[in-house]
Amino acid sequence: MFDVEKIREEFPILQQKVYGRPLVYLDSGATAQKPLQVLERVDWLSRNLNANIHRGVHLLSEEATELYEAARQQIADFIGAAEKEEIVFTAGATASLNTVAYAWGDAFVGTGDNIVVSEMEHHSNLVPWQLVAERRGAEVRMLPFDDDGALRTDLLPTLIDSRTRVVAVTQASNTLGTRPDLRPVIEAAHAVGAVVVVDGCQGVVHGGANVQALDCDFYAFSGHKLYGPTGIGVLYGKRELLERMPPFLGGGDMVDRVTFARTTYAPVPLKFEAGTANFIGAIGLGEAVKFLSRFDAAQIEAHETALLRRAEERLGAIPGLRIYGRTPDKCAIVSFNIEGAHPYDVGMILDKLGIAIRTGHHCAEPVMDHFGVPGMCRASFALYNTLSEVDALAAGVERAVGMLCH
Ligand code: ALA
Repeated sequence: MFDVEKIREEFPILQQKVYGRPLVYLDSGATAQKPLQVLERVDWLSRNLNANIHRGVHLLSEEATELYEAARQQIADFIGAAEKEEIVFTAGATASLNTVAYAWGDAFVGTGDNIVVSEMEHHSNLVPWQLVAERRGAEVRMLPFDDDGALRTDLLPTLIDSRTRVVAVTQASNTLGTRPDLRPVIEAAHAVGAVVVVDGCQGVVHGGANVQALDCDFYAFSGHKLYGPTGIGVLYGKRELLERMPPFLGGGDMVDRVTFARTTYAPVPLKFEAGTANFIGAIGLGEAVKFLSRFDAAQIEAHETALLRRAEERLGAIPGLRIYGRTPDKCAIVSFNIEGAHPYDVGMILDKLGIAIRTGHHCAEPVMDHFGVPGMCRASFALYNTLSEVDALAAGVERAVGMLCH
C-alpha cells in the first residue's frame, strides 16, 4: 500500500516548521527533497569511501569505482537503456543538454540547417540550441503549443524538412505540466535523419521513462529533482550516436593515450566524463532509484494525479484565478495567476503561511510570452505531498486574493 504519511517520515526536512507553521513544500519541480536513505548513503560515502574513481589500485578507489559503475547500471535499468555504456554522468540536465548541443551540434549542424525546438522548453533545452545556431549559421524553428498547453504536432510537416538536424523537446513541461505524445515528433524527426533530444527532468519523475520504447536519441535529467543529490545528472545517448559524437570537455579520465602530437579518447561513456566525476552524487542517485523502486510506479502516479485533480478543483473554484496547462494527461504541476495580483506577491504571502511554491518565469520565458504574462505561480507536487497540503495551498491562495484583490 502507498502510505503517504509513512513516506513523509523518511523525509526529515518535511518535519520542520517555517515561521512557526508546518512546512508545505510544493516546489519539488525546482528540487525535490531527499529521503533519509539517500542522505545517509551520501554521508556514509563521504566518511568511508572518499577515493577517486578509475584511478587508484588501492582498495578505497577500487570500491568507489565499483559502486560508481553499479550506479551507472542502475540508471540504465531505471530508464530502459540497452546497456550501461549509454549512460553518461554529468553535473545535471543543463550540462547534459549543453554536451549534446556543443558536441553533436557543432559536428553535425551546418549553415542552412535547422533545429526544431518546442515552445514549451525550459531554457536549458532552448538556449544551447540557439548558441549552436549562432555558431553554425543554422536556424531555430519553434514547434508551438496551443492555449491548453498541447504541443501542435499537427504542424510538424511544416517545420521538419530535409535540413532538420535536431529536434529538441520535453517529456513533461516544467510550467504547463504537459506530457506531449513524443511518438509523432520522434517519427517525423527520424524520417529525415534528425536526432531527437528529450529533456526528461520532470518526465522521469512523473511517470518515468523507457528510452528504448520511446526511441529517442538523447535523454537528459537531473538527480536533484528525482529525490537524489544535487550536482549529478544523466545524459543517455544511443551507443552508436555517442560513439560518433566528438568529446566536449577534455581532461583526465576521458583519454586513452595522450602525446603532444595526438590524443586518443577513452571508449564511451568515459569519453564524456572528463575530470573527477561526482561519484558520490552518482552513487547517491543510484540510492534514490533504489528508494523509488520500493514503490509501485502506478501508485505514485495515482497519488500524484489525485493531488493534481484536487489542486485543479480547489484553485479552479477561486474567482479570477487562471490555470495554465489544461491537457488531460498532464503531470502534477499547476501554474496559475490571479487577476490583479502579481505572482511574487502571492508567493510571498504563501511563504509567510509556510507554503513554498515557485514564482517567476520558471526558466521558460517563451511560455510566459505565449500567454502574455511576466510570470506565474507554480505548485509542483511529489510523492510525499498530501491532499491536506493541497487544501492548505487553496486556503492560502484565497487569503492572498482577499489581501491583494480587494
Ligand atoms: N528547472 C527548475 C524548475 O522548473 C529549476 O523550477
